[in-house]
Amino acid sequence: MSLISILKKKGPNGLGFSNTAEDVTERLDLIGKTVLITGVNSGLGLETARVLSLRGAIVIGLARTLNKAESISPLLKNSYFPMACELSEPQSVLDCVEILKNSKVLLDAIICNAGIMALPRLQQKYGVELQFLTNHIGHFMLVNGLIDSLNQYGRITVVSSAAHKMFSYRDGIQFQNFSGGQNYDPHRAYGHSKLANLLFCNELSRRFKSTTFISNAVHPGVIRTNLLRHYNPVIRYGVRIVDKIFLKTVEQGAATQCYVSVHPDIEGMSGNYFSDCNLEQPSVHAQDKVMSKRLWDVSEKIVSKIRKEKMWQDG
Ligand SMILES: NC(=O)c1ccc[n+]([C@@H]2O[C@H](COP(=O)([O-])OP(=O)(O)OC[C@H]3O[C@@H](n4cnc5c(N)ncnc54)[C@H](OP(=O)(O)O)[C@@H]3O)[C@@H](O)[C@H]2O)c1
Repeated sequence: MSLISILKKKGPNGLGFSNTAEDVTERLDLIGKTVLITGVNSGLGLETARVLSLRGAIVIGLARTLNKAESISPLLKNSYFPMACELSEPQSVLDCVEILKNSKVLLDAIICNAGIMALPRLQQKYGVELQFLTNHIGHFMLVNGLIDSLNQYGRITVVSSAAHKMFSYRDGIQFQNFSGGQNYDPHRAYGHSKLANLLFCNELSRRFKSTTFISNAVHPGVIRTNLLRHYNPVIRYGVRIVDKIFLKTVEQGAATQCYVSVHPDIEGMSGNYFSDCNLEQPSVHAQDKVMSKRLWDVSEKIVSKIRKEKMWQDG
């Protein structure tokens, strides 16, 4: 079997690499459903918003700034509510949560899609490595703040990545190195944040046990988007060359998160990891219950420390 046919094979449900978000939501009627998407102004978030709106969902689109969130409204077919949410800024996340809670909106799905990848040099905010802060802590705060705003069968979809396996540290979450200062490596730091996404999703799923909510994680595939902005031009050119043969299009890349967030096939399924719209085995660390519980506790401590520090700074 050629590499291309392996990449393009279908999974047990008949869906696979080549299906688009429009394919996997075909004939779904999402009228009356409300979906919140982070990172809505670009790449997979934008395509997810476009397609779910096309199927009738009300979309609440979050981006770093209100302008960015508003920029996509001409592409959406249905009611659209743009909001600012800078995930690396806890106050921005809290403000967003407060507005949504006050609005009494009921969310059928929260899609934690926003992310940054492979910052070439270590960047920290509040003493925390920026990819971990943005990709994990920001979403951890957002989702926890919105649990009471979930509809009865509310779904959380966390956009993780196969990078959680490929680029991860041998011993999983670096509990002594959230600052990223020890031997910073751009890809490992990304893989670390994506492992945190998966562990968060799994722990959330366990905490949802006595509810009708579900929480799942996805790997969207490899897609040429703005996520590559921190790569040097030579690598970006190389990606452009292989793009058409080996990579997914943005339309294909958004498929798994759309499928997992709204498709009836997923009803009652929780704590799973999907790729190409089918179940996929995550890494051993991603299944480690002790690690996920510990990460949850430490994430709460990081959030509370940042909030105290911020209050102190703001006087
Ligand atoms: N593309 C791939 O091959 C691939 C593979 C595996 C996983 N993923 C995951 O898929 C998700 C979507 O990525 P993409 O490929 O669509 O990349 P993208 O086009 O760069 O989109 C990322 C989105 O996240 C937003 N974002 C970044 N930092 C943020 C912050 N601090 N606060 C709020 N929003 C922020 C970006 O906003 P700005 O435009 O303002 O920066 C943008 O809207 C990410 O979680 C990524 O890790 C992608």
